[in-house]
Amino acid sequence: MSHLQCLTMATALILLQALSTVSCSILSRADRITRLPGQPRVGFQQYSGYVTIDDKKQRALFYYLAEAETKPISKPLVLWLNGGPGCSSLGVGAFSENGPFRPKGSVLVRNLHSWNQEANMLYLETPVGVGFSYATESSSYEGVNDKITAKDNLVFLQKWFLKFPQYLNRSLFITGESYAGHYVPQLAQLMIQYNKKHNLFNLKGIAIGNPVMEFATDFNSRAEYFWSHGLILDPTYKMFTSYCNYSRYVSEYYRGSVSSMCTKVMSQVSIETSRFVDKYDVTLDVCIPSVLSQSKVVNPQPQQVGETVDVCVEDETVNYLNRRDVQKALHARLVGTRKWAVCSNVLDYEVLDVEVPTINIVGSLVKAGVPVLVYSGDQDSVIPLTGSRTLVKRLAEELGLRTTVPYRVWFAGQQVGGWTQVYGNTLAFATVRGAAHEVPFSQPARALVLFKAFLGGRPLPEEF
Ligand SMILES: *[C@@H]1O[C@H](CO)[C@@H](O)[C@H](O)[C@H]1NC(C)=O
Ligand SMILES: *[C@@H]1O[C@H](CO)[C@@H](O)[C@H](O)[C@H]1NC(C)=O
Repeated sequence: MSHLQCLTMATALILLQALSTVSCSILSRADRITRLPGQPRVGFQQYSGYVTIDDKKQRALFYYLAEAETKPISKPLVLWLNGGPGCSSLGVGAFSENGPFRPKGSVLVRNLHSWNQEANMLYLETPVGVGFSYATESSSYEGVNDKITAKDNLVFLQKWFLKFPQYLNRSLFITGESYAGHYVPQLAQLMIQYNKKHNLFNLKGIAIGNPVMEFATDFNSRAEYFWSHGLILDPTYKMFTSYCNYSRYVSEYYRGSVSSMCTKVMSQVSIETSRFVDKYDVTLDVCIPSVLSQSKVVNPQPQQVGETVDVCVEDETVNYLNRRDVQKALHARLVGTRKWAVCSNVLDYEVLDVEVPTINIVGSLVKAGVPVLVYSGDQDSVIPLTGSRTLVKRLAEELGLRTTVPYRVWFAGQQVGGWTQVYGNTLAFATVRGAAHEVPFSQPARALVLFKAFLGGRPLPEEF
């Protein structure tokens, strides 16, 4: 693209300050990654760096863009957000889930099911205090909440388009998982509001995986999930659904006053479920070194790593992203912290925001004509499929949407990839069979089929 085209397109933006003197290709060129240490040769471009989100330049968000493997200009732009709140979309999303590479020892190996086969993937570490994103004043880490995060994410995108005007008006999808069940709908809602004045975001859909959308329904699905998967006994299930359910426990916990009843119930639940079972995927093996370091138990167990899923990928990512040469290649800085962490140690997020429902926002998006996909890794006990399925069905009823694709299996290759149901033209639910809370991490091939259908606005494959 020529500088002129580039500037003309950027004129569509309201935020023109930065562009009046500097041409856009130079702005993004500084962020181009020559090569990541240990990276195999690839044919696509990568960029990473900072976008300051306040006028004083005291708060900066870090992004990583992996352009599409082929024909990036004809492919959509997809923003990916991890949850937490406070966990990194770079470390979890890009390097453990759906990005082009996964760290293995001192090198990076290709992810054969990377989502950049279908889209230009933009990973954002948000809010400030997460990963390489920072604020120069540590007071900015206090009292960060959903409202601030959504606003900052919106400003980020506006300013990011100044660096990458070639992506202006490109089809844009927002995706994410877990607590991003808050971030994604909240950001999409702000975009739609912003678009009413200045048509900037060409928002084509959102997809949220194992999302927190309604606290009580999501969290209280846990008891039945544990019980039906043999993790707890009948009497424990009874206690966990009558004396103290999980939403009550979390609610008390975040208010700093756990009742003796909840303490008793939760202690029984924890004993039976065991810390050696990964609650984010009850069938997957755990990464023994990380379980042991978290629980400070000095009783090593033989480590079993699955054939295709590296359950220790998180540890590998921590090592990789803390290398000086890697940080240099990424144009990343550590500000006010000495170590890059998967989930922030400095951010003081308003945890009670978890109780604010976002399912109603999802409803307003559907009403505004934005396609929504809610998907669930069916081995996750943290935000189980049953809660999400109930919430989507309830929403469809409220909106008066009839079923257009009845509940049925979908295929990835010759095997069942999960189940799906579609309501109206815009609201879809799907499970991913054998997948964790982090769907693309444990079922990368199925996740890619799901992603491709979502981008294309098509129902999932009915047969093979
Ligand atoms: C943006 O793209 C849409 C189609 O997705 C098109 O209708 C519209 O005219 C485009 N706007 C600009 C300013 O190019
Ligand atoms: C969970 O516990 C709370 C507080 O005791 C109660 O109001 C709520 O109805 C319970 N929910 C379920 C699904 O049991």
